[in-house]
Order: sequence, then structure tokens, then C-alpha cells
Amino acid sequence: MTETFQFKLLATDGKARRGEVSMPRGTIRTPAFMPVGTVGTVKAMYLDQVRELGADIILGNTYHLMLRPGPERVARLGGLHELIRWPYPILTDSGGFQVMSLSGLRKLDEQGVTFKSHVDGALHHMSPERSIEIQGLLDSDIQMQLDECVALPASPKEIERAMEMSLRWAERCKVAFGDQPGKAMFGIVQGGDIPHLRVRSAQALAELNLKGYAIGGLAVGEPQEVMLDMIDTTVPHMPFEKPRYLMGVGTPDDMLKSVARGIDMFDCVMPTRSGRHGLAFTRRGRINLRNARHAEDMRPLDEESSCPAARDYSRAYLHHLIRANESLGGMLLTWNNLSYYQDLMAGIRKAIEEGRFADFMAETQENWARGDL
Ligand code: GUN
Repeated sequence: MTETFQFKLLATDGKARRGEVSMPRGTIRTPAFMPVGTVGTVKAMYLDQVRELGADIILGNTYHLMLRPGPERVARLGGLHELIRWPYPILTDSGGFQVMSLSGLRKLDEQGVTFKSHVDGALHHMSPERSIEIQGLLDSDIQMQLDECVALPASPKEIERAMEMSLRWAERCKVAFGDQPGKAMFGIVQGGDIPHLRVRSAQALAELNLKGYAIGGLAVGEPQEVMLDMIDTTVPHMPFEKPRYLMGVGTPDDMLKSVARGIDMFDCVMPTRSGRHGLAFTRRGRINLRNARHAEDMRPLDEESSCPAARDYSRAYLHHLIRANESLGGMLLTWNNLSYYQDLMAGIRKAIEEGRFADFMAETQENWARGDL
């Protein structure tokens, strides 16, 4: 652990990188998957379990926490780490993306975003400065700039306007964040599916000399090929010696292919949300436990898994729990899925260290393609 925020590259294998982000609350082994704890809980999990599975950092959402319980209240209660009992690093998303996807009635201009709360309909305003202030009140370790993420498809004009405004917001967020040696504020590359806008965004952000950089505006409805093309276009213009975070991604396959392109950090609701809906991620691909074919199958999901949820419970029972809408069904599948995601990241890290990432990726993909056990 260190007093200051630092990123160290430990090994590379092709474009894949094995690194370490260190800060006062802990060290993040990269490539890292960050479980999503939107409202101060990784849904259906105890945080002790999340830790035990190998998570070094979790995510929180400015948008949700500002509405409930409110940032000033969280600060009075000792900060988010104290409140939720997670003493390790927390990254908070800035709110722009969640405003677009969740709130009703919104108005976005140079000043910031005005929106109607999805909780009680009240009107709120968030400027880039207020987003950083809120993330500070939450005591977030890695804060994200406020940005505007446009859903694809969108017109080039619209994509360019949002990207340029996001750059101006990045500068304002940098000033608002100031000098906090133990923490970081990351910029977010935008530019939709237009290569020269991605390059412009990445280069302009690099000039701000931030402590880390994210790629945003992807996995918003475009095909995987477009997403991978945009990563290939953007990464060469992101500082080599800073962490690179691909926001909101993804499936295990998305993550393997993105690590191969130089990405260090990921977050996604997929393992938690789809777990609650009955989907299990395993070594041999995905299994939908709602399916009637599991009703009398007494085999576990995967007896070779490191996770008790995958080893010790029958598919028949998981099927029953999911069909009966029982909390335990979502809890067990979330546990399985986060375990699978964290084990996959551990496998990726080890493979990069040993210079066999390409083989690891091919073997992992072959196992998914072989289908369920
Ligand atoms: N989460 C997924 N994509 C994005 C994005 O483009 N911006 C922000 N702030 N969060 C995201």
C-alpha cells in the first residue's frame, strides 16, 4: 500500500498488460473486474463474500447515492466505506451515464445536467463540479469525470458535440478535483463509433495529464466488432503508463478480447443482474437455470469450480429457486457468477505473467464453445 495513487506495469504479453494500481486503501491487481455496487450494495452478496472471491475494488454510482441516501448524509455517517463496511478502494461513476439511462425528463447543456429523480420525481441539477463534490463526499478513491454518453446509432454531429463537451467537462472536473495524492480522477474518452473523434478525445484527455483514463460510450447497442474496432483505434492514443478502464463491459468474451487490446479494468452489471435473472456463467459457457431441462438434474453447475454455489447445489434446486422467485436463487447464481468472473481475471493475470495469454484465451474460448457439461 502507498500514500499516493500509483500504477505499475508488472508484465506485458502482446498488448495485454499485468499491472497494479496502488492507493492508501489497497492495491488493485490488473486486469481487474470491479463488481457493481450501485446503491452501496453488490446486490444479493455480502461484501465479505465479494472480497473473498478476489475483488480488490467495487463500484458505486453517484447518481443513485446522491438521490438516496444523499452525499451529505453519507459524509456525516463517515463516508461510503464506513457505511457499507468495505474498507478497500471504491470507484464511483460520475452520474452522466445513469442520468441518461434511468431518470425521466432531462436537460443537458454546457452547465451540466438537470434531471428528474427516478425515486420521487424531484428535479436535480448536476454540474461537473457538483459531480466531483458528491464523489468527494462519498470519499470515493477513483472518481470519474462527468461526461455525456450518446446511445448509438447517433449522427456524427451529435457524437462530436457530446465528445467536445465531455472534454470541456473533463477540464472542469480536473480543477474541481484539485490535488489529492491518494486518490484519482479519471477522464473518459467519448466519440461514439467515429475513429477520428475517438483519437481526438483520447489525445486531448492525455494532455490533461490525469491519473487514469476510461473508454466510455461503448456497449451501448453496437455490435462487438464495432466496440473492438473502437478500442483498437483508441488505445494507441492513451498514455501507456496509466491505467485504462473500459466502462460497462462486459461478457467474459468481451473482457478477454479487450485485455488482448490493452485494457486493464472493467465493470459490468452482467454477472450480478443476469444471476438474479437465472443465468449462470461457467467454464463451459452460459446456463439458463429457468430452462425446464434442469428441473430434475441433480448435477451441480460445475464440480470443479472454486465456488460452493457451483459445486454444492444441484441444478434442480437452482431451477426451483429461480422459478419460485426465491431470493436464494439470485444469491447463489450471483455468487457463482462473480466467482467465475474473478477466477477468469485471476487466470488472465497469471497467463500474462507467464507469457501465454493468447493460449489461455484460445483454451477458454474453446471450453465455452464445447458447451455445457
Ligand atoms: N458506463 C458505461 N459507459 C459509460 C460512459 O460512457 N460514461 C460513464 N460515465 N459511465 C459509463
